[in-house]
This record gives sequence, C-alpha cells and structure tokens, in this order.
Amino acid sequence: MSKLEQKEAEQEIIRDVIREFYQRAFADGIISHFFFGKNHDDLVRMQSHFTLNMLGYHKNPYPGRSLRQVHASLPLSDVHFDRRRVILENVLSESSLPLSVQLKWLSLEERLRPQIVRGSSGPSCSG
Ligand code: HEM
Repeated sequence: MSKLEQKEAEQEIIRDVIREFYQRAFADGIISHFFFGKNHDDLVRMQSHFTLNMLGYHKNPYPGRSLRQVHASLPLSDVHFDRRRVILENVLSESSLPLSVQLKWLSLEERLRPQIVRGSSGPSCSG
C-alpha cells in the first residue's frame, strides 16, 4: 500500500470510529441524554471533519461554530467528559487505526477539555 493509500484508509477508519462512537454515546447510561433530539448523521459528519483537521489529514476549513459555543448551553462536567473519553478509547482499541494515531487523537482531545467542561477554564466562583 502506498503512503497515500494508507492515509486514505486511515481516514475511513476514523469515520468508522466516530460512527461507532456515536452509536454507543446515544445509548450510554451516563451521557446519552445530551444527545436526545440530535441528528446522529450530522454529528458524525461534523465530528469527522473536525477530527480529520485536528489530526492533520486535511486542511479544509471546519465549517462549524467554535467548540466552546457549541457546548456552551450543555451542563457538561468532567464526569461527562471522562465518560466520553472512555467510550472513545474503547472504540479506538477495537479499531485497526495505528496506535500512534490513537494516542495523538486522545491527547489532542484532552487539551480541548477547558473549552467543553463548564467552569474549567476560568477561576472558580465560591460565592
Ligand atoms: C474533546 C471533546 C469533544 C469534542 C472534540 C466535541 C466535538 C463536537 C463537534 C465537532 C460537534 C458538532 C458541532 C456542530 O454541529 O456544529 C459537537 C456537538 C455536540 N457535542 Fe461535542 N465534543 C466534545 C465533547 C463533548 C461531550 C463531553 C459531550 C457530552 C457528553 C458532547 C456533546 C455534544 C452534543 C450534545 C452536541 C450537539 C450540540 C448541538 O447540536 O446543539 N460533546 N461536539
């Protein structure tokens, strides 16, 4: 397989991982309620675009709103973020995506935590 073919195959695996991830997230006891009424296919499409950019597979401008804006109305805590991560780790570990790409994906997403989790980016308010 040429390098280009390898990269294309990896992009297909990434889309499959995201599709499976959302299957599980929509049925998950801890985070599924966030997805009530959301369109599975739209989420797969947007998340795939975002992730392929993040991992450097292409540079097509991401057409969506900022992650902070998208998640601002959701009361997301570290528990939810961690649960999402476990689901993603499980799906990744069952995939044939090279381990180096899996680790890069997880570590880049971890850096996004302050944009997603409520209250984690600013000083805490005690009163
Ligand atoms: C690093 C972590 C995360 C990333 C990279 C991420 C990424 C995304 C992306 C790209 C979208 C689509 C945006 C759009 O349609 O414009 C989205 C939407 C959404 N995400 Fe996340 N997300 C993360 C964490 C979470 C967590 C922890 C939850 C809940 C447990 C969550 C729940 C949702 C929901 C419910 C939507 C749909 C929002 C709407 O359509 O109004 N996300 N996310």
